[in-house]
Amino acid sequence: MSSPTILVTGGAGYIGSHAVLALQQAGYDVLVLDNLSNGHRELVEQTLNVKLIVGDTNDRPLLDRLFSETAISAVMHFAADIAVGESVSNPAKYYRNNVVGTLTLLEAMVAASIKQFVFSSTCALYGIPEFVPITEEHPQAPISPYAMTKWMVERILHDFDVAYGLKSVAFRYFNASGADPDGRLGEDHDPETHLIPLVLLAALGQQKSISILGTDYPTPDGTCIRDYIHVSDLAQAHVLGLKYLLDGGNSNVFNLGNGNGFSVREVIETARQVTGRPIQVIERDRRPGDPPILVGSSEKARQILKWQPQYADLRSILNHAWQWHQKRHAQQPDQITSASEEMSSPSIETLARQ
Ligand SMILES: NC(=O)c1ccc[n+]([C@@H]2O[C@H](COP(=O)([O-])OP(=O)(O)OC[C@H]3O[C@@H](n4cnc5c(N)ncnc54)[C@H](O)[C@@H]3O)[C@@H](O)[C@H]2O)c1
Repeated sequence: MSSPTILVTGGAGYIGSHAVLALQQAGYDVLVLDNLSNGHRELVEQTLNVKLIVGDTNDRPLLDRLFSETAISAVMHFAADIAVGESVSNPAKYYRNNVVGTLTLLEAMVAASIKQFVFSSTCALYGIPEFVPITEEHPQAPISPYAMTKWMVERILHDFDVAYGLKSVAFRYFNASGADPDGRLGEDHDPETHLIPLVLLAALGQQKSISILGTDYPTPDGTCIRDYIHVSDLAQAHVLGLKYLLDGGNSNVFNLGNGNGFSVREVIETARQVTGRPIQVIERDRRPGDPPILVGSSEKARQILKWQPQYADLRSILNHAWQWHQKRHAQQPDQITSASEEMSSPSIETLARQ
């Protein structure tokens, strides 16, 4: 009997490519759909040796053709625009790509009787936390258009289950970080806005310094605390979520976080130790809207999906990311760019406001 074929949208991106690898290792056949707006062809075609369809989730005729030509068992949907700040200045782009694109994909799935869907949602839909660790029952109050797009898709998924029997797992990630421990894949966004790659770019001399925005928060060292989840652990959770659905599981939502918060200073200090390089820091005032602590509870995923993260410590996360960044830098020294000269945010996902 042949293995189920899984369509991975956004599989040329950071988290999607790690999920493709985890799916392959779990014995699934994989097909990637990516418009390459922010993805990397060589990761899919060369590193992962998977068929890449260069196309857009908004292209309904393409989706219909794809679903009629190939027997797809389930869809894992990573494709989205991901920059919170840009979503504030250009919300139309975000609603069109993240909401309309997903709706188009879901309608094509229903028409082709594909009924299992794994979705990349975000902790940003909780807004400013009322309590930590944040559980799935925490009130939802998305602040940015980006977070609102994920909130809307979760509502659509609920209604598609009621009306069409489409079963979904929505994973609300905290801060995806790290890289494949064997160095095959890693984070390569352009522009880069996440703390850990920006700190490592500073260690590589690709950016001058890192700004810490606020050193007087009510936390042990005064800087914001965030929950960093290793991307390979995220990928593993997706395989478990898929299996849960293929085994007949009902629609569900799960937080995916580390459960351990790390402060901005801890990240920078651990990066200094891991890289052995100096990292220049500039201390600045707080930015309005950044909560002091954002840490998630992933107990539900541990219990229902039997998910067991392997790389919960900050040193492993930074070590794996550092191996990847050194390799990238050696291959393409001029192509690594960052959003700005200095870090301006703990992470796009955890921003309450930009
Ligand atoms: N990185 C994080 O910390 C984080 C946290 C929470 C949620 N997420 C979500 O996880 C998913 C993956 O994030 P990532 O960091 O890997 O981003 P990424 O930009 O690296 O990957 C997204 C991929 O989707 C592709 N894409 C975008 N729009 C498309 C479309 N309409 N059709 C086809 N392909 C399209 C891009 O080319 C890219 O390869 C996103 O949905 C994001 O919102 C990410």
